[in-house]
Formats: sequence, C-alpha cells, structure tokens
Amino acid sequence: MEKNASLMSFYYRHEFLIRRLHSLLGLIPIGAYMMVHLTTNASILAGSEIFQKNVDTIHSLGPALPLVEWAFIFTPILFHGIIGVLICFGGKSNLSSYHYVNNYRYTAQRVTGIIAFLFLFYHIMHQHHYGEWLGPYFGMFDPHHATSSVGESFAFWWVKVIYLIGITASIYHLANGIWTAGITWGLWVTPKAQQRADLICFGLGIIFLGIGLAAFYAASTVDIQQVRAEEDAGHDAEVLLKEGEDERLDPTEVPAEEDSSSAEAEEASTEEPTSEAS
Ligand code: HEM
Ligand code: HEM
Repeated sequence: MEKNASLMSFYYRHEFLIRRLHSLLGLIPIGAYMMVHLTTNASILAGSEIFQKNVDTIHSLGPALPLVEWAFIFTPILFHGIIGVLICFGGKSNLSSYHYVNNYRYTAQRVTGIIAFLFLFYHIMHQHHYGEWLGPYFGMFDPHHATSSVGESFAFWWVKVIYLIGITASIYHLANGIWTAGITWGLWVTPKAQQRADLICFGLGIIFLGIGLAAFYAASTVDIQQVRAEEDAGHDAEVLLKEGEDERLDPTEVPAEEDSSSAEAEEASTEEPTSEAS
C-alpha cells in the first residue's frame, strides 16, 4: 500500500516529463512500428515469397533481434501501456488540458488504450515464440513458414473477431492520439488549427485503417496447404543451391588450372616457331 503511494507520488512529482515521454513513445517508435508492421503483414497479398523475404530480412538480425525488439518495441510499449493504465485508473482527469476535445473522443482514447493493452498481450502470446508455454494455439508464428503459419493462426472465427477489434481500436487510438499529441506538444492550439488537425487525423485514420484491414484480409485468406507446399519447395531449392555451392570447386583452383593450361599453350606456341624453323 505504502509502495503504491510512493509510486504515485513519484509519478506526480515527474508528471510533466513522464507525460511527454508517454506521448513521444506512442508516436515513435510504437505508432511508427505498428504501421510498418501492418504494411509488412499486408505484403502477404503480394505473394508468400515476398512476405517470406520481408520476414527473412527482419530475422537476419539473428542474435541481435531480441535486443532490437526489447529496446525499440517491448520496453516502449510497456512504458506507454503502464503509464496509460495509470492515467486511466489513476483518478486524475486531464480533460482540462484538452480544452476543445470532444468528450466522446477523450473517453474513446482511453477505452481503445485499454483494448490495445489486452490485444497486445494476447497478440504477442499468440504469435511470438514467447507465448509457446501457453499451449498449441500460442507462439504460432514460424519464421521459416511465415505465410502459412500466419494463415494457421487465423484459422478460427473468434481469432478473427479478436484481431478485427484489436486492429480497429489500435488504429483509432493512433489516429486520435496524433491529434491529442499535437496538443501535448503545442502544434495546434487555436480552435481553427484544431479543426484543420481534425481533418488531417481523420484522413490518416482512413489510410491506416485501409492498411490494417488489408493485413487482416491477407492473414485471413491464406490458402494454407498451397502456401505450405510453395514454402517447402522454396526451402528444398535453397538446400540444393547451398549443396551446389559447397560442392563447387575451390575458386582459387580454377585459375591455377587455367594457368597450367595456358602455360602449356604458351609453351606450345613458343615451340612452334622453333619446329617451323627446323
Ligand atoms: C499498450 C497499451 C496502451 C495503453 C494502455 C495506452 C493508453 C493511452 C492513454 C490512456 C492515452 C491518453 C493519454 C492522455 O489522455 O493524455 C494514450 C495516448 C496515446 N497513445 Fe496509447 N496506449 C496503448 C497503446 C498504444 C499504441 C499501440 C499506440 C500506437 C499505435 C499508442 C499511441 C498513443 C498516442 C500517439 C497517444 C497520444 C499521446 C498524447 O496525447 O500526447 N498507444 N495512450
Ligand atoms: C493482421 C494483423 C496482424 C498480423 C498478421 C500480425 C502478425 C504478427 C506476427 C506474425 C508477429 C510475430 C513476429 C515474430 O515473432 O517475429 C507479430 C508480433 C508483434 N505484433 Fe503483430 N500482427 C498484426 C497486428 C498487429 C497490431 C495491430 C499491432 C499493434 C497494436 C501489432 C503489434 C505486434 C508486436 C508489438 C509484436 C511483437 C514484436 C515482434 O515480434 O516483432 N501487431 N505480429
């Protein structure tokens, strides 16, 4: 209880800085990451090979991948999420700092924040290997069978419902969050400027929703059997290529052979005139 009180007093003592950091992290990296991530997932529509290539590029970070994930994704989400929950349930309204904000939008920002929190927990456990301990329907993403494993993870109707709610809520939260962040950072202060910002954020929201729904559609309509066969054929081709590369003669030997044959040729050509002469 005392610990809780000292945590809240720490929060209120550094509220200005914490709120600024909370706001910044919501935009970058979290907001930017979400849109790049949804665009990458929507690339399934361009074919399983393209999506596999995109996933391979990310996973080529190898042992550095968890470091990058924790530094740029998980830690910012944990910070933004925990502070967001504190803001929602901390009992201190900051409505007065958004003079012109519509009350519904203010409430929706907080409700979608809580939905994003629950969705992200489910989603990361559902896809990322960190969730494997929870059972067969968790930790489902296999980076070597990127498209088919995403397709398999979307096989149940209730998973689709969870994703549809999670994606829509997160996108509303980001688009409306850009608007409220503009107030946090003093970008649009007058009612007129805020009306212009309304239009910009609405437009961005529609574009984001288009990308989010494209990712959802792509993941929901994977032909799992067909794609799995394509992925396996791709792996077989890679193995053959690798074996071929390993079996190829040491390239340093090739010039050596060429050297000896050209030396012989040279010898012959130098001999010829002598034989001709004799
Ligand atoms: C992890 C779960 C999340 C929770 C609990 C949460 C909570 C919140 C809350 C309560 C606010 C309003 C702050 C205020 O009234 O001043 C907020 C703002 C914001 N959130 Fe989130 N959020 C979460 C995830 C996300 C995600 C995934 C994104 C990006 C896709 C994001 C981007 C933003 C942005 C840009 C703002 C506006 C900041 C500002 O007004 O200065 N949040 N969040
Ligand atoms: C159709 C929609 C989506 C699909 C198909 C999808 C797919 C995936 C997959 C396959 C992974 C695992 C990646 C890996 O382990 O390498 C993942 C991780 C993750 N996703 Fe999504 N996702 C979707 C929507 C979202 C949304 C809306 C958000 C943000 C609110 C989000 C945030 C994350 C985060 C934070 C991770 C963990 C970081 C990582 O593994 O790189 N995803 N997603």
